Amino acid sequence: MTQRIPRTVSLDMHGDILVATIDNPPVNALSHSVRSGLRDAVAAFEENDAARAMIIVCAGRTFMAGADIREFGKPMNEPLLGEVIARLDRCGKPIIAAMHGTALGGGLEVALACSYRIAAPSAKLGLPEVKLGILPGAGGSLRLPRLIGAEAALSMIGEGRQVSAEEALANGLVDAIAEGDLHRSAMIFARRVIEEGARVRRVSDLPIPPHDPGVFASARAAMAKKFPGFAAPQRAVDLVEMAMSSPFSEACDREYATCKELLSSPQSRALRHLFAAEREALKIDGVSADVRPRDVRKVAVVGPGTMGRGIATSLLNAGLAVVLIGLSDESLGKAKAAIAKTYENSLKRGSMTAGEVEERLGRLTLTRTYDNLLDVDLAIEAVTEDLSVKADVVRRLDDALRDDAIVVTNTSFLDIEEIANSSRRPHNVAGMHFFNPAHVMKLVENVRASRSTPDVLATITALARKLGKTPVMVGRSEGFVANRMLSKRTREAQFLLEDGATPGQVDRVLSGFGFPIGPFALADLAGMDIMAAARAARLSRMSEREKACNIVDRLVAAGRLGQKTGAGYYRYDENRRPSLDPEADSIIAAHRQERGIAAREISDGEILERCLYAMINEAAKILGEGAAARPGDIDVIWTSGFGFPSYLGGPMFYADQIGLRNIKAALERYSALVGREYFQPAPLIEQLAAEGKGFYG
Ligand code: CAA
Repeated sequence: MTQRIPRTVSLDMHGDILVATIDNPPVNALSHSVRSGLRDAVAAFEENDAARAMIIVCAGRTFMAGADIREFGKPMNEPLLGEVIARLDRCGKPIIAAMHGTALGGGLEVALACSYRIAAPSAKLGLPEVKLGILPGAGGSLRLPRLIGAEAALSMIGEGRQVSAEEALANGLVDAIAEGDLHRSAMIFARRVIEEGARVRRVSDLPIPPHDPGVFASARAAMAKKFPGFAAPQRAVDLVEMAMSSPFSEACDREYATCKELLSSPQSRALRHLFAAEREALKIDGVSADVRPRDVRKVAVVGPGTMGRGIATSLLNAGLAVVLIGLSDESLGKAKAAIAKTYENSLKRGSMTAGEVEERLGRLTLTRTYDNLLDVDLAIEAVTEDLSVKADVVRRLDDALRDDAIVVTNTSFLDIEEIANSSRRPHNVAGMHFFNPAHVMKLVENVRASRSTPDVLATITALARKLGKTPVMVGRSEGFVANRMLSKRTREAQFLLEDGATPGQVDRVLSGFGFPIGPFALADLAGMDIMAAARAARLSRMSEREKACNIVDRLVAAGRLGQKTGAGYYRYDENRRPSLDPEADSIIAAHRQERGIAAREISDGEILERCLYAMINEAAKILGEGAAARPGDIDVIWTSGFGFPSYLGGPMFYADQIGLRNIKAALERYSALVGREYFQPAPLIEQLAAEGKGFYG
């Protein structure tokens, strides 16, 4: 018998076992049709005397990955998820959830309301709502601690941590791991449940497990440290604490109310915006969904310096074979030692085994020549930031690689067109702008040149994903998006010092806003010599005031290179703990005096606005020029790469919350105060403000 309830849920009888199959691509989200289908499936199961157990299973790549995010913020059609889950919980006969892929959020809540749970060995289970600024609203935060205890539940709910099937079996979240085929294993499991009396086991009836009451205070402190500024993790602790001391039905109502309240909070709106923007960023203009990326198995990295090493490590970590090309055995040896050191640290931390280290290093080949590169599918140049050096490498790669191999440049500031034009095959050239340390930083700005073919763009996107990165496609522009915007913030931070602010004040304001580190503490970490070199590289393109604003050079001259010399903008003790340093203040004061600038009192508001609005104005220029395709791409770049607080949604989303008319008025104010060349509103801001619109409409 096959009975179609709504389109997405079908029922099949197999002897005395009813199988409800959910098929709602791509991720079996709990859309309205799935909710009503599940509710009707339980009713059909109860009415069918021949059915003694029911299995819930999903078609496609995954078990239900949660509520349908596209329905958020719209009026919800009944039945709501809580109602469906209550219906599953009340069922008088046993229901078994058979999970594969990622059983997340509402999907796991459905499973928790079943009598039994079985998982495929590769399944991942989690309640990731907190990452969307919300919390489970259909009993997940009440059932989970009853099943696995308060402590384990706190890390899953408060941090959104996913667990493997193995961990889930160990902590009691699942009753069995499938052996071989999930459906078959679930049928065998259901048969055993029937043979043992078809017992119903409601998680909601389980007694509250004993727990240390101190666990909540420690969880609050840990969450505050790990997720500063985020509201939902703290509320998660409140919720689990409440769940451990309240009757189930009362706790259910309070859980739902909390979830509803968070759903309309600005943080949740911002985080949901980013969830969509991250996925949108993978859709590239001019590259249709059916364009297949080329196969990449072996990659050559030219240049064994810091960037080349990081990129090579990242490629090795993703299972690729790597040929590292350098000028001397010495530089190659140093690179290999540095990569091995990174792995040694992983070994010490226990995140890798000795066998894994050996296997990864075994895929690395070092060479001083461009010979034998015909099996290389893609080459990444990470040599000195000098056009003629890069052009020479591209030409050598042209000669050494197969005609269909892709050449990628890791340039940060050079013109992508000039680099592509140095190749005989410019259609096979593109950029991948990694950030240091390349094996750690998530963001990769993929750069399209005017003649890069769609499959080249699809390939670098797929490669970055394979490396576990967040790729965002950008276009021709000096410094691309992230560094171009950052340079405006750096400029303002320096001008603010000239005008009378202190490094401590600027850092306090920007870290108070939510950046993990202020610009001056960051400069001390990176090294003042690096900052001075970056400044020297841009000097010819700087304004007169920027050229004269050489506090960085003065610090270098005073031997204050940052943390590594024990002093920069701050002084550092032997444990690299910073303190304010009157000597740095004197250097800045001497600079002001020489420049004839009288220090004035600068408000925190002015610091924040000048630093942020300079970036937002630059972003508007980038958008206007088409060097970024969408405001969402810029939000993803800044939240995934440069520490813009994700609960504020990224600089563009934040600008819309402030309102572009307000931003424009502030830009006008700072044009008068600092100079029109720095703060003249971008044409796009002028236009959108005049239309009463934001970047997002
Ligand atoms: N609702 C609607 N669409 C969803 C979705 C969801 N919960 N989860 C993923 N999708 C969509 C994505 O937007 C994407 O759509 P496009 O192809 O149009 O871009 C598509 O499914 C595939 O997603 P990914 O590109 O992310 O695919 P992936 O294989 O890399 O990852 C995933 C799959 C692990 C499920 C990941 O998408 C994910 O983590 N999704 C979010 C899960 C989640 O947060 N669930 C909790 C929701 S809240 C809840 O359930 C509780 C409640 O009621 C309040």
